[in-house]
Amino acid sequence: MRYTAEYVRAKQLVNKYLATNGEKLHHAIILDGPKHHTLNCLKHFKWAPDHIHIPNNSYADYHKIQLIHPQTYHLSMREYLEGGHIDITSVVYMDYMCSFWGNSICSPASDIKYLFDNTRFADTCLLAITCSVRHKLKESLWFSNIQMLKAIAQIQSVAKAHGKQAILIPEFGTYKNKGIMYTLMFRVEADTKTKAL
Ligand SMILES: C[S@@+](CC[C@H](N)C(=O)[O-])C[C@H]1O[C@@H](n2cnc3c(N)ncnc32)[C@H](O)[C@@H]1O
Repeated sequence: MRYTAEYVRAKQLVNKYLATNGEKLHHAIILDGPKHHTLNCLKHFKWAPDHIHIPNNSYADYHKIQLIHPQTYHLSMREYLEGGHIDITSVVYMDYMCSFWGNSICSPASDIKYLFDNTRFADTCLLAITCSVRHKLKESLWFSNIQMLKAIAQIQSVAKAHGKQAILIPEFGTYKNKGIMYTLMFRVEADTKTKAL
């Protein structure tokens, strides 16, 4: 599969940001591809391999990653989270290929809620999420921006309902591959102004 230069650059920026700003003492849950760029980047910046957990619901991709990384699981992100074997987590990279509201196989919006319901976050956790834009006018930046803004609002609202604040790090955003994709990066911390429900 050929990627655009924009795609490659966007992934590099996200991987490096997570690897260098995430708290290495804790654990990372990441979606990675067959070339394991995210894994390589975390290891390059001295993350302990046994702190890196990689679910992948494509058998072909899972198979390639597990050859070099034992903490790889042939599971969807949701199934992995439901497994409940999650240590204190300081990095979550939900690098999806579907839209935020999802489909029958992949539902980022629902995974986000499940993540907040069930994860022991480190005091500061970086949460990155990539989604594609779903719309017949998906080549239009205007619709992309609206979908991205709705995803931001939803994630911040879920965080707030759990006594957290999801602070947007405004260094990422839309990029073009086949269609328009976007990455959102949040710093998740306790919200000192609200109590968890
Ligand atoms: C875009 S690639 C990851 C790229 C990588 N993070 C990088 O920086 O190069 C996404 C990978 O996650 C897997 N994936 C997508 N949605 C998933 C889901 N809901 N659960 C588990 N794996 C998923 C895909 O099979 C694919 O291998």
